[in-house]
Amino acid sequence: MTSRHIVALGGSLLRPEESEQRSAWFGQLRQLAVHLEGNGRRVGIVIGGGLPAREAIELAKTCVSASDKLDQVGIAATRLNATVIQQVLIDIGCSVAPSIPHTTSESAELLEKYNFVVMGGTTPGHTTDAVAVAFARDAGARTCIIATNVSHVYDKDPREFDDAQSLTKLTIDQ
Ligand code: UTP
Repeated sequence: MTSRHIVALGGSLLRPEESEQRSAWFGQLRQLAVHLEGNGRRVGIVIGGGLPAREAIELAKTCVSASDKLDQVGIAATRLNATVIQQVLIDIGCSVAPSIPHTTSESAELLEKYNFVVMGGTTPGHTTDAVAVAFARDAGARTCIIATNVSHVYDKDPREFDDAQSLTKLTIDQ
């Protein structure tokens, strides 16, 4: 079986502030994609919401307070960002799933056929890190890499809590 890998790409990494850094970032992404495809890897990429999600959620909060409704706004932003990455990979001729799947099982099925599947969030109540882990489970992936601006998985936000503990082993249920 072709080796499968899942990467969660935090929205904060997607948009370097400087436009110069941005084109370098996309250039590196394209090089990496060509290299991975050349090595016969199958890669599922789960994209976070970043700035568009934060801005849109703030906007919606003007009149909406239910967290599941605000989550739907966040999910829409992750899907927008996913579409950007999907189109960048299609543009360089990679084998990329033509749709942005709504579920991790649909993504796992598409990864049977395409070298890259790009998706965003799925349902309210979690973030795209959880989506990546579920995608990895459904696709029987060898690795699931969470690329973000925090070094480990913690029991609480280490930027807010000094006593946050980093976790090195977790079950899916935990
Ligand atoms: P992110 O996954 O980008 O969350 O989804 P985040 O916490 O802002 O980003 P990281 O993990 O630090 O990189 C943005 C928002 O979209 C909603 C949530 O409201 C989340 O905060 N969302 C996303 C969902 O409700 N379900 C999903 O499956 C994904």
